[in-house]
Amino acid sequence: MWLGTAELVSAVSNAGGLGIIGAGNSRPEWVRQQIRLTKQLTNKPFGVNIFMLSPFIEPVMEVVLEEGVAVVTFGAGNAEIYLPRLNSAGIKVMSVVASVASARRLEQAGVDAIVAEGTESGGEVGETTTMVLVPQVVDSVQVPVVAAGGIADGRGLAAAFALGAQGVQMGTRFICSDECIAHPRLKERIVQADDRSTVVTGRTTRYAVRSLENRMTRQFLALEKAGATKEELDWFGRGRTYLGLVEGDVDEGWLLSGQSAGLIKEIKPVKAIIEEIVAEAEAIISASGREDKLWLNR
Ligand SMILES: Cc1cc2nc3c(=O)[nH]c(=O)nc-3n(C[C@H](O)[C@H](O)[C@H](O)COP(=O)(O)O)c2cc1C
Repeated sequence: MWLGTAELVSAVSNAGGLGIIGAGNSRPEWVRQQIRLTKQLTNKPFGVNIFMLSPFIEPVMEVVLEEGVAVVTFGAGNAEIYLPRLNSAGIKVMSVVASVASARRLEQAGVDAIVAEGTESGGEVGETTTMVLVPQVVDSVQVPVVAAGGIADGRGLAAAFALGAQGVQMGTRFICSDECIAHPRLKERIVQADDRSTVVTGRTTRYAVRSLENRMTRQFLALEKAGATKEELDWFGRGRTYLGLVEGDVDEGWLLSGQSAGLIKEIKPVKAIIEEIVAEAEAIISASGREDKLWLNR
């Protein structure tokens, strides 16, 4: 949401990943413009993430079908009704889930892959950790599983493969890339973050979100404790994601980030991020089973 723009998406795809445009709550015209711009910047496959709570979900679907992209991903929420149209247009669909039950249901409905997202993730979260969720989803479905949540380096990628995943989805790591339009103050906050810098707000509603702790999250949690209604909390949170992520108001804005913020120490180009992660994972995997190299990362 807000940060998955053509520049970042094309950089990820050009570096061998699968960049995904975040449609978020954006208007369909913006999504069309970003798809066209991405096509100018890369000839590699890329995707669009459709936010299930967007007020523009239908017109965004139309744009995606008209423009044609390789992949559509759906954030948490039930995407079943959109599958037939995407499938018949030859677009691969990946759905993000936080539970085994959702993974099973979406496989039945016909998704091509499942993104199993643990509670470590930035943005909307469930309760189960990546470590525990991924292998259970892998055991429950036949389609490929992508692990998400808490992965920001080669150790995380190798661990995801060990859990049975066939790939990883990363959000927070790419905020701290040169190509991401996130405000420099947010990037700096992530680099400074440690293992306990994030909190989850909204657990009293059905929309729990992980972000960096700041004045805004402390106020939000105080409102929840005082029994604020979902409407009051929605009103309090209005406009704060853009304010935090893009405008860089690190006190009043909503700084969506995962626990992996604590692992991120540098802002660098996407290509360097991906190459380093892949090289580190390859070294770990090729050393595994060899006693002399088992403690490679110590
Ligand atoms: C700033 C931010 C915005 C996000 N927006 C979306 C979104 O619009 N749709 C979605 O499905 N996931 C969204 N996510 C979740 C990511 O797609 C990804 O699953 C998550 O970041 C993985 O965990 P990580 O942050 O530890 O890498 C967002 C994450 C962040 C940090």
